[in-house]
Amino acid sequence: MEDKSLETVAKLKMYFKEREGVEYSDQVIRQGLVPSHRGTIEKPQGYAEISRSCGDGIIFFLQIHQDKIMRARFFSMGCLAAVASGNAAAVMAEGKDVYEAFDVDAPAIADALGGLPEKEDHCAELACEALREALRDYLTHRREPWKRDYPKKK
Ligand code: FES
Repeated sequence: MEDKSLETVAKLKMYFKEREGVEYSDQVIRQGLVPSHRGTIEKPQGYAEISRSCGDGIIFFLQIHQDKIMRARFFSMGCLAAVASGNAAAVMAEGKDVYEAFDVDAPAIADALGGLPEKEDHCAELACEALREALRDYLTHRREPWKRDYPKKK
């Protein structure tokens, strides 16, 4: 089974290299295509929607209890590197104290993914910004949770 998955990752790396001229690490391929932390959280304590001029965006959700991040989820219809970065940011934030989670910066996200192609560095910055904005949202509303505007259901 593992051999099959390695073979698939190798084929996809080749595909992106030949078709798009970009070299992705195994982690970008894996986390970008099968992100373990993609999803939403009902009534999150921390929430953010961030987009970039390239048109990609990330929505970040945090479930926090006594300043500890119990669950982190994200959603993105962006590029492969944005999805992989959102996933890596959520994985790294989960289990951390909210103040420690501010240390999850763009270079740390890119490192966790085994590096990003140079022109896609901003994808890790997008994920970092979404996480930090969700942390700020939590800190802003911690004392007055009744003032929170939850995302509207469509
Ligand atoms: Fe813009 Fe990836 S190309 S976030």
